[in-house]
Amino acid sequence: MSHIDRIFVDTFGYSPEIIAAAPGRVNLIGEHIDYSDGYVLPFAISDRTFAAMSIRPDRLVRIASAQRRNKIVTVNLDDIKPGLKGEWERYALGVIWAMGVKEGLDVMIDGHVPLGAGLSSSAALECSVATALNHLLSLGFDLQTLARLTQKAENDYVGVPCGIMDQSVSLMAQAGFALLLDCRDLTSRNVSFDVASNGLELLIIDTQAHHSLTDGGYARRRQSCDSVVAKLSVRSMRELSLEKLSASKDLLSDVEFIRARHAVTEISRVHSAVEALEAKNFTELGQLLNASHASLRDDYDVSCPELNVAVDASIAAGALGARMVGGGFGGSAIALINASTTVDTIHSVESAFKNAGFKAPRFFTSLPSQGAEIMQRGL
Ligand code: GLA
Repeated sequence: MSHIDRIFVDTFGYSPEIIAAAPGRVNLIGEHIDYSDGYVLPFAISDRTFAAMSIRPDRLVRIASAQRRNKIVTVNLDDIKPGLKGEWERYALGVIWAMGVKEGLDVMIDGHVPLGAGLSSSAALECSVATALNHLLSLGFDLQTLARLTQKAENDYVGVPCGIMDQSVSLMAQAGFALLLDCRDLTSRNVSFDVASNGLELLIIDTQAHHSLTDGGYARRRQSCDSVVAKLSVRSMRELSLEKLSASKDLLSDVEFIRARHAVTEISRVHSAVEALEAKNFTELGQLLNASHASLRDDYDVSCPELNVAVDASIAAGALGARMVGGGFGGSAIALINASTTVDTIHSVESAFKNAGFKAPRFFTSLPSQGAEIMQRGL
């Protein structure tokens, strides 16, 4: 019996019909461009969230979590609508709502993606629930549709204006690969990302600084992009080149111009990163990570002192490249380093944080891992 199986039995008194798992993610490159029809290159991390479930004979949905053992939330299916107050369970209820579920359910969640670290614990939760529901209720949604439905849950039910990247990679990733995702139509291609056999490691540095997409900074960045697109009469940032953007500079405010410059240059960095990976040119990949960070810091203005210190200290310790990942304003940075320098890099970042008076950071590493999957079914 697995851990979540046992907790389900302890809580609900019988065994779950299905258990699914979905991972968090790190985005190698392609930041803040998923909502601009851009390309992104994320991979799934090994930390994942599990969802165990059974159908109930009535119209109740009961949800509990292994991390909060003493609380079961019980809701009637008819009451699951945007606006219903709640806590973490809204992410699961939002998926139930977005997928149009008509059956009562018992649901147990066991989350192992670090919270608030910019590693997409929310997408892992949504996608574990969506994958379990899709199989348990034989709904037959493909992965692209599941990505759109889980994004809808987060946008319209939870009220977080995220893009499509996190849910897509949590659902579609393959172990050993980064996912080159076209955020316009959700077609994708696996790109081998084999750091280990090249003597490298991808260090994830959780700055422990606050990270929330609901503070308004994320939504304002999206609004700037919408405004640029409207003023320049294009469908999305993807249709802009640096030349076209520069030629239209007078039509935009200074802030809109630099936001758009980030989007345009970041999309082109993603394509260059794919070429660098395919050529196993990790030096070039490192340079692209550095350029991405500078663009997010200076043009898109979504970095913060903790992220900048993490990146600068990693580079000072010899990293090939480093950058902030995810929505920004806190959360995590990544550093591409020689595996032999892990301890030195950690020390360098730790002491830079100490000198700056920041809370101590946390460190993780992860190989590119498998996306959402069914772990156990039919008992
Ligand atoms: C958050 C959002 C994603 C994406 C990133 C920035 O993680 O959930 O959709 O916009 O920020 O790249």
